[in-house]
Amino acid sequence: MDQNVDVAELPLSSVAPDMDARRVKISPDHWYPVAWSRELKTAKPLAVKFAGSPVVLVRPKEGAVFALENRCAHRQVPLDRGVVAGCAIKCGYHGWTYDASGKCIDVPYIGKGKLPNGVKSYPCREEAGLIFIFPGDPALADNFPDLSAAVGNAYKTRRFGREIKCHYSFMHENLMDMNHQFLHRRIMGQIRPRYLGRSMGDDWLEVQYTFARTGGKQPLGEAAVFGGRRTADVNDKDVMTIRTEYPYQTLKILPAGGGEPVMDLWIVYVPQDEAQKTIRTFGLLSIHKPDGVVGRSLLNVGWPFLVAFTERIFTEDRGIVESEQAAHDAQGGNWNQEIFPVIRELTGLLASCGVRPE
Ligand code: FES
Repeated sequence: MDQNVDVAELPLSSVAPDMDARRVKISPDHWYPVAWSRELKTAKPLAVKFAGSPVVLVRPKEGAVFALENRCAHRQVPLDRGVVAGCAIKCGYHGWTYDASGKCIDVPYIGKGKLPNGVKSYPCREEAGLIFIFPGDPALADNFPDLSAAVGNAYKTRRFGREIKCHYSFMHENLMDMNHQFLHRRIMGQIRPRYLGRSMGDDWLEVQYTFARTGGKQPLGEAAVFGGRRTADVNDKDVMTIRTEYPYQTLKILPAGGGEPVMDLWIVYVPQDEAQKTIRTFGLLSIHKPDGVVGRSLLNVGWPFLVAFTERIFTEDRGIVESEQAAHDAQGGNWNQEIFPVIRELTGLLASCGVRPE
């Protein structure tokens, strides 16, 4: 790995995207969260979307959550307007009933003898407070993401998300390009990122940075993450690793002395509309619990500051990526002059992993 490389000295990658990545649709052959567990009440169907496809989620009184396309096979009425009956959902219009596999199991006025075709079902899993579906080929649904930090006891996890009006590629680029710390100067003070190096494979790319505070006070929210350890010491050696492992993104901060990450972020950007210009983010921000009762109490006390701190950062990021999307729409194409090889490579990776326009 290159150490403390000046970005300006990096060669421009030959992996520059050969097309406009904003026009590439996300690959459906991955697990995507479509709702938080808390949003789906027992026996109350919930309408959600994936890339323009309407989906209904159902939590029966007994049995696992399931997902179907949100339309009745009879007259296309959304099934979320129906009622949950046992481990099935009954359309609210004429009462056609579908089981968890989407099979039509009852039409009240013809009985069970000659039933029509049902509706599409999606592989569905509930993990870490999220409800996932697999929109693509079900035969490929064995690549569930690693959410270990958010499901174990070693971390305290904040679940956050919002709708953002931009293509998912803007979000990947924003998180991976730590050279945008200038945007957050009013919140974070003066922070200087130092690029350490990067590596990549067919469907992943990761980059490492260290940071040094060059001015201003450490925000309380940041102190909650680092236990107050980050100082003006320019030799601070905590290492931040940001990784896009298509279609997910992670950000881990490892302490200088080694050991478990002090912060472990998992995030994904799920297209809502068919044009994929609106996304819903689902993020799991996990902070390692300190040892001892006192340390854990301090983390709990600092938690509201961390929430407020991260919320302000995300709000600034949101404003920027939405303005990037608006510029792309107005210009009708990609006018960017990207000079950071990591971002050129990332954009190429996203384009190669997604579904390109015909
Ligand atoms: Fe659904 Fe008729 S529209 S049962």
